[in-house]
Amino acid sequence: MTQELERLQKVIAKSGVTSRRKAEVLITEGKVTVNHQVVTELGTKVKASDHIEVEGIPLENPEKIYILFHKPTGVITSVSDDKGRKVVTDFFPQLGLRIFPVGRLDYDTSGLLLLTNDGEFANQMTHPKYKIQKKYVAKLKGFLLREEVKQLEKGIVLEDGKTAPAIVKVKSQDREKNTTLVEITIFEGRNRQVRRMFKHFGHEVVKLSRIEYGPLNLKGINAGDARELSPHEVKTLRHLALHNK
Ligand code: URA
Repeated sequence: MTQELERLQKVIAKSGVTSRRKAEVLITEGKVTVNHQVVTELGTKVKASDHIEVEGIPLENPEKIYILFHKPTGVITSVSDDKGRKVVTDFFPQLGLRIFPVGRLDYDTSGLLLLTNDGEFANQMTHPKYKIQKKYVAKLKGFLLREEVKQLEKGIVLEDGKTAPAIVKVKSQDREKNTTLVEITIFEGRNRQVRRMFKHFGHEVVKLSRIEYGPLNLKGINAGDARELSPHEVKTLRHLALHNK
């Protein structure tokens, strides 16, 4: 997903400041800056993320972008890491827009993660009062008992309070390996929530992946790959957040 380069005068004209012709005049007169440097060359190409000012006034904000990413395990959900470990934004070196993750997945968790440069959208998705549902598939140590499933579905008390009712479906149990494969849908996003919910009953999560986020899933997107959300998908997510209060 690379960002298109466009001629400076075209970008200025598109933003509605002035015509392309007049933009060319302003550029040659030295009245346009790109990332705080005066640019007088008419052929100059710019990215949507570049900071452009015309006579000292910034152009409108860069375009908004919404990315569905299949995060692999072993990657930090952050834009940088002081220990130099791989972070999710390392997967988008050419983008030219300053994106950040919406919520987080643990280092050892894989799956569906949204990234955007739209702070308002990110807040809507992660605010505790908006209950976007998230489905995970987890491999646990031990067998999950029917009673444990019932309690998880009702809500259990963790150190940061009672969990909202969850939907839990046991998919299979491996008697030899003493593990359970389970799907769990939660409507909150507390830190390490799924791991802590199973740990409450003594089940260590050995593998965890988020497979759905609201109406979105990972169909056709391999680990490490991404696609842009359609405007309709973005609208649907906003609608769900606002109407699930
Ligand atoms: N719950 C967890 O425990 N970890 C995650 O990464 C996401 C949800």
